[in-house]
Amino acid sequence: MTTCTDDALSKADFDFLAKLVLDQSAIVLEASKSYLLESRLNPVARQHDFGSIAELTDALRKPNSRKLEQAVVDAMTTNETSFYRDIHPFDLLRKQILPELIEKRFKERRLTIWSNACSSGQEVYSIAMMIREHFPQLADWDIRLRATDLSSEILERAEKGIFNQTEVNRGLPMQLLMKYFHRDGVHWRINDEIRSMVKFDSVNLIERWPATLMSVDVVFLRNVLIYFTPDTKREILAKVRQRIRDDGCLFLGGSENTMNLTNEFERDQVDRTVYYRPI
Ligand SMILES: C[S@@+](CC[C@H](N)C(=O)[O-])C[C@H]1O[C@@H](n2cnc3c(N)ncnc32)[C@H](O)[C@@H]1O
Repeated sequence: MTTCTDDALSKADFDFLAKLVLDQSAIVLEASKSYLLESRLNPVARQHDFGSIAELTDALRKPNSRKLEQAVVDAMTTNETSFYRDIHPFDLLRKQILPELIEKRFKERRLTIWSNACSSGQEVYSIAMMIREHFPQLADWDIRLRATDLSSEILERAEKGIFNQTEVNRGLPMQLLMKYFHRDGVHWRINDEIRSMVKFDSVNLIERWPATLMSVDVVFLRNVLIYFTPDTKREILAKVRQRIRDDGCLFLGGSENTMNLTNEFERDQVDRTVYYRPI
């Protein structure tokens, strides 16, 4: 294998890579993030047998480098997530949002929940386990749990439902681990019943969204808008509004909000949990 040197990245190469990542994912890389780019792209350069990020960048400048581009964009996504992350949105979903929706959708007997930018799947599997644990009355409903992300690599992981010990130690109650997972070597695999409740798809938030993701009751769009410019956030929130039902509910990440971005959602708060209702 080629040794990858960590010579400082030139400005021209940084600009080229930052534009590639921006164009393909909308993720903004400020010049101050050059260390991040280097630490994430050194392994990509090594895996593809380039001696440096400069060589990798040269290859990206050539035509037909789609696969390499995708590897670079995948490497630049931040996939930080955990089961029941920030717990409050999940508590609110269980105590208030789902009971209300169950009443309203009693005739349709259908609910669609979308975990957007789902990363390795902990968010959507948390919702799936919650439904199995607390809503036995939904057993014969058409429950559509959709989970999407830009990164094909992370989606592949999410779909397998296999987690390491550190991942299951973060946020997942022991009793749910014992009930819904089984050991798979040094890993834990989520059981087929929970896994089959979720449909994973590749969706880039800045590209066309599938027509099947319509009339959604609850949208989780957490910890992803932070990476985008205000204009991109506006476009995405406008698209979410078109896809969410008038009485639906949107959850953003703890450091995200809709201020100065849209007046199509109103902020609501129950105890410490902020969520958004379409207007
Ligand atoms: C920090 S994780 C958030 C995971 C989860 N929503 C949570 O809050 O725990 C951000 C995710 O956004 C995804 N992402 C970044 N840019 C995206 C885009 N343009 N379209 C779709 N997903 C994107 C990344 O691949 C990553 O998995």
